[in-house]
Amino acid sequence: MKEIILKTSIYKCKFSELSKSEKLLVKECKKIIKSAYAPYSSFYVGASVLLENGEIISGTNQENASYPSGLCAERVAVFYANAKFPKTPIKTILITAFSNDKFVKYPISPCGSCRQVLLESEMRFKKDIKVILFAKEEIIFFKNVKGLLPLFFDKIP
Ligand code: THU
Repeated sequence: MKEIILKTSIYKCKFSELSKSEKLLVKECKKIIKSAYAPYSSFYVGASVLLENGEIISGTNQENASYPSGLCAERVAVFYANAKFPKTPIKTILITAFSNDKFVKYPISPCGSCRQVLLESEMRFKKDIKVILFAKEEIIFFKNVKGLLPLFFDKIP
């Protein structure tokens, strides 16, 4: 038996260390979060995507009485961005959440399905997508989606 150790790097940073466009993503994401439709969980998630052409596309979670029919903020944003600009790679995605009348203290991490969707977008354009998880007390980021989803499912060979 052989043990295989997987390595991934998580970076912590301060707000002041974000670039100008990343700071703009924070602003946009905080603004759009009010558009979340989350009457079942009362957990409001925002995802703002920065494209290579400088456009910013944002999404929020959209729930449904038939729970599994709802969709996370990340997938709403990524699908919308890829639908509107099908030839433009995504550079960065920033995610944050709001609950109990305040923005979360610590970052929330995208679910498995969102990671899989983000990864497809990263591979489709052969361009790393930086993933920034933003919260009041902590900002962390991953340099690419691959780092967030080891042993991902790829195309059927
Ligand atoms: N949710 C997201 O939008 N993104 C995540 O990364 C995790 C969870 C949503 C789904 C659901 O509407 C609510 O948060 C509670 O799970």
